[in-house]
Amino acid sequence: MNVTPAPAALARRPQKLPRPNDACWCGSGKKYKKCHSEDDADARRDEKKRLEANRVRPGHLSPMRTVPPHILRPDYAETGVPGRGSGRLFRTPEELPRMRRACQAAAKLLRLAGEQVKPGVTTDQIDAFVHQTTIDLGGYPSTLNYRGYKKSLCTSVNEIICHGIPDDRALVDGDIVNLDVTIFLDGFHGDTNATFLVGTVDEESRELVRVTRECLMLGVEAVKPGRPVSDIGRAIEQHASKHGYGVVRSYCGHGIGDTFHANLQVPHYFDPRATTRLEPGMTFTIEPMISLGTWEDTVWDDGWTAVTKDLKRSAQFEHTVLVTEAGVEILTVE
Ligand code: MF3
Ligand code: CO
Ligand code: CO
Repeated sequence: MNVTPAPAALARRPQKLPRPNDACWCGSGKKYKKCHSEDDADARRDEKKRLEANRVRPGHLSPMRTVPPHILRPDYAETGVPGRGSGRLFRTPEELPRMRRACQAAAKLLRLAGEQVKPGVTTDQIDAFVHQTTIDLGGYPSTLNYRGYKKSLCTSVNEIICHGIPDDRALVDGDIVNLDVTIFLDGFHGDTNATFLVGTVDEESRELVRVTRECLMLGVEAVKPGRPVSDIGRAIEQHASKHGYGVVRSYCGHGIGDTFHANLQVPHYFDPRATTRLEPGMTFTIEPMISLGTWEDTVWDDGWTAVTKDLKRSAQFEHTVLVTEAGVEILTVE
């Protein structure tokens, strides 16, 4: 058969590059080391420089906001140290309507917070909005003073994976930003997040955000009574891998109810050790963090902000769910 090699100008640099003595990816028929090898090394260096120059830097924090005394608080609100709570993973029939209301309030908060996202708005302004709106709904922003965290939501921009702290950095056209809101209402926590586009965002990032949302929904659909928790991560990882994305491993979904982080870990990758069986009445979160490049993270000196090691972008979506006899109910919907 007569195969015409693709012209070099049209062939795209693949994710996995050839070895020096292999044929070049461009179709020239030359050895890689004699063809695109140096160009590729230059391009990689330029890309690293660009990511380093554009990385999100820590800004200044406003003073901690206060919550009026009539609002019911979780045990750690004063001390910053969560007590053991009940730690229960199952909701009783009496608790379920209250859990639903907390989660519905969280969903509403997330929608309203998302409406604030536009270029020029600082993440601290979003914090002020979410703080006040949470109080208006009769709730306490669960993150406030949780293990000493000083803000009422997490705002994670671009390469920030999660737990970004709202500060005076203004959102820039082209950013992606995750807003993670949690409300403590009538004794129960509702936890949900989404990644929003700031103005006009490049196609690669929009694809990441789209696929990450799909990862969450596939994780949710994997929830079935009798199945192990590991089914959830398996479904998520499969989809992310198909797109060549990394699945963050340092942070997991968690049991939630009268305790913010109850003792059930939900990995978003396939972990055969996640053998706990799903049972009706369990409430927990699924919150995959998916990255354009590596799954590896590092944490800023602030002790909270988790960023990708390669500074490539990461997106996240989160729901609080209930295991039912039939399968699953997403609680964080309006
Ligand atoms: N809402 C986050 C979660 O999904 C937890 C944030 S804890 C904080 O689990 F202290 F960082 F705010
Ligand atoms: Co959350
Ligand atoms: Co969560």
